[in-house]
Amino acid sequence: MSGQAVADIGLIGLAVMGQNLILNMADHGFTVCAYNRTTSKVDAFLDNEAKGKAIVGAHSIEELCSKLKRPRRVMLLVKAGAAVDSFIEQLLPFLEKGDIIIDGGNSHYPDTNRRCDYLAEKGILFVGSGVSGGEEGARTGPSLMPGGAKDAWPHLKDIFQSCAAQTDGEPCCDWVGDQGAGHYVKMVHNGIEYGDMQLICEAYDMLKRGVGLTNQEIADVFEKWNNGVLDSFLIEITRDILKFTDDDGTPLVEKIMDTAGQKGTGKWTAINALDLGMPVTLIGEAVFSRCLSSIREERGRASERLAGPVIDKFSGDKAKIIDQMEQALYASKIISYAQGFMLMREAAKAYGWTLNNAGIALMWRGGCIIRSAFLGDITNAYKKNADLENLLFDDFFHAAIEKAQPSWRQVVAQGALWGIPTPAFSTALSFFDGYRAKRLPANLLQAQRDYFGAHTFRILPEFASEKYPIDTDIHVNWTGRGGNVSASTYDA
Ligand code: 6PG
Repeated sequence: MSGQAVADIGLIGLAVMGQNLILNMADHGFTVCAYNRTTSKVDAFLDNEAKGKAIVGAHSIEELCSKLKRPRRVMLLVKAGAAVDSFIEQLLPFLEKGDIIIDGGNSHYPDTNRRCDYLAEKGILFVGSGVSGGEEGARTGPSLMPGGAKDAWPHLKDIFQSCAAQTDGEPCCDWVGDQGAGHYVKMVHNGIEYGDMQLICEAYDMLKRGVGLTNQEIADVFEKWNNGVLDSFLIEITRDILKFTDDDGTPLVEKIMDTAGQKGTGKWTAINALDLGMPVTLIGEAVFSRCLSSIREERGRASERLAGPVIDKFSGDKAKIIDQMEQALYASKIISYAQGFMLMREAAKAYGWTLNNAGIALMWRGGCIIRSAFLGDITNAYKKNADLENLLFDDFFHAAIEKAQPSWRQVVAQGALWGIPTPAFSTALSFFDGYRAKRLPANLLQAQRDYFGAHTFRILPEFASEKYPIDTDIHVNWTGRGGNVSASTYDA
C-alpha cells in the first residue's frame, strides 16, 4: 500500500518512548507517520493517544516510506542491536539517495560507526542520536545528541531542536560530531548517570545507617540539597522515592531487593575508558558497585562471617555532617564530570571527532536524566574557555573543590570508620589526590617491573648522566644475577 507524501518524519517503534516522541513532534507542528512491527499497535495508537493530531499511520515499511516527504526522514526507536540492522535492511529497498535514517536507541557507538559507513556507500545518511529523559522527557522535551552523516543535520535541525528541552532559551540538542559521536556522548552521559546515582546511594546509606535518620528525614535532606549546589533531577526524584509509602504506610524503597540491574551503557563507558587509558574511576566504581550488589546471596553469607565496626548511635552534630555530605557529594560529582570530559577529549583525539564541550554540557543541562544546575556551570566554564584542559582548572570549580575538600575528607574517613562502603566518594577523593600529586609512587612500580621482567624505566631529567641517559629505556641488573638484556616495550 502506498500513500501521499504528507509526513515530515516517520517513526518506527511504538513503545512508550516512540509514542511520546511522536506526540511531542506533532505538538511542534510536524506531521509524523507511525509504524510498528505489530501493526495493531499502530491502530491502537491512532485511535487513542494520536487522535486528532497530525499523526498518520502505516501498516508496512513500504507504506511508511511512501508517506514521507523528500528527503525521507525515518527515526528508529527500537531495541539496540539486531533490531536496528534488521529495520535498516527492511527500509533500504524503499529509500533513495539522500534519505535519512536516524537511530534513537541506546546503540553502542562502534555499531553506529559501522552503520554510518555501510549506509554512506548506499548514499543514505545515517544518524545515531542519543535520546535521554525517559518517557516524560520524550513527551515534553528530551535531550537529543545527534551525530553521524552531517549532511542530514540541516534536514533534522528544526524538528530536533524544537522538540528538545529548552534551557535558558537554548535547545538541549545540537550536532555532536561524525560517525558514532552522538551515541558515544550518550554513552558517557549514561556512565555519568551511573556515577551520580551511586553517589546519591552512598549518601543515603551513610545518612541512614551512620547518622540514623528516617527515610522522611533523609527526604528532607534531599529537599534541602535540591535547593543548593546539588539541584538536579536525580536528587529531586530521590527525595520523592524516599517519601513514597506503600499501602501499609512504610517506605516502599526499603522493600526493594538490593540488587542493581544494568543494560550495559555504564559498562561500555568503563571499558572504553580502559581502552583509551583514561582514569574514569568513578564510573568504573559505579559499575562495579552494581556488580557487587548483584551477588546478593554470597554477600548474605559474607555478612554472617565477616565482622566490621559496630555503628554506635550517632551522637555528633547532625546538621554538620549533613552539610559535610552535601560538600562531599558535590566535590565527587565535580570529579566525575571532570573524568567524563577527560574521556571525551581523549575519544575525540583517538577517533578524529571534533567534540564541543560547551555544547555537550548544554545538551545535558536540561531534558536528560543527569540534568542539573551544575551543568549550567560546566557550560559556562567551557564557554569561557573552549580549550580548558580540565574542569578542575576552571576558577569556579577550583574554588568549589577547595571549599569542599575538608568536608569531603571527613565524610570518606567517617565512612571508613563506620564500615559503610563509599566506593564513589572514596575513588573521587583518591583521584583528586592522585591528579594533584606531582610525584606518584610509579617510580617504585617501574623499578619492580624492571627488577622482575627487565621492562626498563626512564631516568628523571635531574639524574640523567652518562650511566643513566635521558629519554632512554634503561635496564639495571638489580640482583647481579640474570643478564643485561631488556624486554621490548610496548603499550597494551
Ligand atoms: C536516559 C537513560 C536511559 C537508560 C536508563 C537505564 O538517558 O534516558 O540513560 O537511556 O536506558 O537509564 O539504564 P540502565 O538499565 O543501564 O540502568
